[in-house]
Amino acid sequence: MNDQVDQLGSLLPAIRTRPPGRRSRALTARLRAVESRNVTYSDKSWPVFWDAARGANVLDADGNIFVDLTSAFGVALLGHAHPVVVSAVSHQAGKLMHGMGDVHPSLPRLALMERLCAFAPWGDTRAVLASTGSEAVEIALKTAQMATGRPGVLAFEGAYHGLTLGALAATERQLFRAPFEDRIYDGVAFAPFPDFLGEGSDASDRALDAVRAALAGGAPNGDPIGAVIIEPVQGRAGVRLAPHGFMAALSRVVAESDAVLIADEIFTGMGRCGARFASERVGLAPDVICVGKALGGGMPVSACLASAAVMDTWPASEGEAIHTSTFLGHPVACAAALAVLDTLEQEAVTERARVLGSRILMALRAQVSEVPGVIDVRGLGLLIGIEFAESGRAVRLAESALREGLLVLPAGDRGHVLELAPPVELTEAQTDFAVETLVRLIREGR
Ligand SMILES: Cc1ncc(COP(=O)(O)O)c(C=O)c1O
Repeated sequence: MNDQVDQLGSLLPAIRTRPPGRRSRALTARLRAVESRNVTYSDKSWPVFWDAARGANVLDADGNIFVDLTSAFGVALLGHAHPVVVSAVSHQAGKLMHGMGDVHPSLPRLALMERLCAFAPWGDTRAVLASTGSEAVEIALKTAQMATGRPGVLAFEGAYHGLTLGALAATERQLFRAPFEDRIYDGVAFAPFPDFLGEGSDASDRALDAVRAALAGGAPNGDPIGAVIIEPVQGRAGVRLAPHGFMAALSRVVAESDAVLIADEIFTGMGRCGARFASERVGLAPDVICVGKALGGGMPVSACLASAAVMDTWPASEGEAIHTSTFLGHPVACAAALAVLDTLEQEAVTERARVLGSRILMALRAQVSEVPGVIDVRGLGLLIGIEFAESGRAVRLAESALREGLLVLPAGDRGHVLELAPPVELTEAQTDFAVETLVRLIREGR
């Protein structure tokens, strides 16, 4: 078995037993007996239990080898278990496993903050570390309130900013909100996200009008708006890109209002979209940036970054931090993130994401754009979406792809967009295999 794990990374899929195999099914049955039934979806064709992962490969409990086109929710941009990250993690774990959040700091925490602040687009930057994307969003929303004194928030239709209660208020999809509506802050206005497929500049104009109206008139509960939060590319809504010029125009409108513009780059940042931050590629000029996912290379770490002028509106600590958490600046996670930042530079990850992403996008566009039922093929760097007319089509495709040895996820509120977020480590042979297989499944209507 260990030999098999050692060989993982650049292999093509090898399906020994139709997934989910016997062991995956048995393990899933055990899971169902102990985990809240809302967490892991299971039926006869889903899920497989993961046993090991390296590079672009995942090995399941039945010995099936998959090519992962999800990077496990966008995290493994550098590939699973990148050796530089693994070695940083094991070294740090043996030295100082856990630190003290906002009290006695650790060396990796300082080193990461220095690197992250130098990585950010503003000259003088301050950061707050956290563990999850949602938490980074919470910090960004609190920072905007500190900076403006205005609690209201403007977000966009389709937005996904996480599921903790503060972040959930800015997440639009009803599925996530409905059971908790009574507990969700009602000072969030939602403007249309001008989908690329909308009527181009008309859609942009309508969205900008809605933004201006909300900034002038306040949130639905009357609160004045201090934060505007947007994903440079909407991920979970189905890889939605705004028309050219929209993000720059939005940045201008928000700047005129003195609200704080937050780029939620949890999914799109750290090289995924072919630049440090996708904002750079789409013309967004944020005051605050949230990063997570790929930042830790597989360890849970996130950050809220802001210019010193914005972040220093928080009062100086007089002994107790107003916002902190037990695992803030976790030394092992910080060491992993430092290794990720080194690797981004040393292995030219952003350029590779741009080149590989456009290669996959072009190949898919050429071969499936005209297939009946395909509405659009789009993407930025290594975040690519194939939109279908039919609801649930991407869910079905994800199940068919699993049986062929490809891990993909559906996105969009109707399960109608196939989302591809592969690692940059995908080899040429894996790329060709993935494209050929997806094209065949799409043409066969599966
Ligand atoms: C854009 C965006 N923001 C926030 C989050 C929430 O991150 P987490 O699940 O780590 O809390 C996600 C997760 O998918 C995301 O894609």
